[in-house]
Amino acid sequence: MKKRKYFIRTFGCQMNVADSDSIGQHLAGLGMEYASDVAAADIVFINTCSVRQQAEQRALSFVGRLEPFKRANSRLKVVVVGCMAQREGQRLQKQLPIIDLVIGSKDIERFPEIIAGFLSPGTKEDPLMQNPGYSGNSGFAGETPDQGSAHNRTSAFVTIMRGCENFCSYCIVPLVRGPEKSRPAREIIAEIETKVRGGARDITLLGQNVNSYRSGDTDFPELLALANNIRGLDRIRFMTSHPKDFSDRLIDTVADLDKVCEHLHLPLQSGSDRVLASMNRRYTSADYRCIVDKLRKHIPDAALTTDIMVGFPGETDDDFSATLDLLRAVEFDFLFAFKYSPRPGTAAASLSDSVPVALKEQRHSRVLEMIRGISTQKNAKLVNTIQEVLVEGARDGQFVGRTRTNKRVFFSCDASRVGHLIDVRITGIKLNSLTGIPAERPSADYA
Ligand code: 5AD
Ligand code: SF4
Repeated sequence: MKKRKYFIRTFGCQMNVADSDSIGQHLAGLGMEYASDVAAADIVFINTCSVRQQAEQRALSFVGRLEPFKRANSRLKVVVVGCMAQREGQRLQKQLPIIDLVIGSKDIERFPEIIAGFLSPGTKEDPLMQNPGYSGNSGFAGETPDQGSAHNRTSAFVTIMRGCENFCSYCIVPLVRGPEKSRPAREIIAEIETKVRGGARDITLLGQNVNSYRSGDTDFPELLALANNIRGLDRIRFMTSHPKDFSDRLIDTVADLDKVCEHLHLPLQSGSDRVLASMNRRYTSADYRCIVDKLRKHIPDAALTTDIMVGFPGETDDDFSATLDLLRAVEFDFLFAFKYSPRPGTAAASLSDSVPVALKEQRHSRVLEMIRGISTQKNAKLVNTIQEVLVEGARDGQFVGRTRTNKRVFFSCDASRVGHLIDVRITGIKLNSLTGIPAERPSADYA
């Protein structure tokens, strides 16, 4: 019998990528196959993000583009999951009748139960009866290169906690994902072990605020220590950390545990204390600099990345200058810059969105321009050094891997090295990546 096929399109953060991965694994367990194109699918999942309005619009437009497929095949099922599904609920189905099922992010752990009810709704009819097919080219193929239950075999995400209760004033996450809930440590360790057996060498532990992880007696540094003991695992990463909960013990843990990589993603948002207070971030720019100083003292080679938001309500030229000053002082390796987008139901939504769009654009460009300069200078210092790289796979006729500090490196090597650590001599820099050639290891390493 022909296997039924599913397609998943993922919007948003790594947490959504991890959720889509679990959805894919569950569907594979039900005997379904991944379809690389909507045209070949019997069921299409759209995993949505609500963090900015633009992400919601992109998901809605994707759903709209499914109309011709549904017209050609009325049995095609469209399922919307994730944060927007949580925020809008049944309203989404009213707005877009093409949608057959909505599963909010708070219900994502109940996915197997919900989807089982949907797939066998108590009638003899299978809602996914054979797809009669659609002869046109969907144009959707390849939109989700990292889907189909393995975004790349060598590195994998593992969710360690869900939800957030920090209520940063601009953020929708606490509303759509609910309060913080840590997963039991043994469940996390078992999942990592399974992924390592499947070929993963580099694991990223995910949570909105990993520093506040706690399950029974296990806190985050202890969880890292448990993961560090897993045989066959080479590297451990984590994100996201909140500066207000960042502890000296965590810096010591990163410094001490050999598998924990020297890279921290520590969202700053703004360099202005006035804006930080209005964002309810609960740290000052001086607190942030203090963490950076400690980090650089204890782990001099650590890479530091961040998130910056421009155009928060009331952000003045002086506030923005304070952000640029901090960027100049801290010298981040890389950053993600966002233009403030009011989200319904958040505290900031009641403030006037006072920074005009053109000014938000201008500030956004200045941040990007500044980080391009800083990042290029930092990467230039790596030229001629030897970096340990985990080879992830082939891309654009070359092989690609990452350093411990999470920098992407392109090089040529033997295909048998995929999934292994190799030494690479850095020979050049590109925008956001490095180029190199494999270096000889001292022969003692092979003994
Ligand atoms: N508008 C713009 N950016 C936002 N972020 C979170 N909420 C918003 C919003 N309402 C950004 C923050 C966060 C990142 C994941 O998304 O910078 O760190
Ligand atoms: Fe949103 Fe703040 Fe929670 Fe991050 S810590 S998810 S920005 S509320």
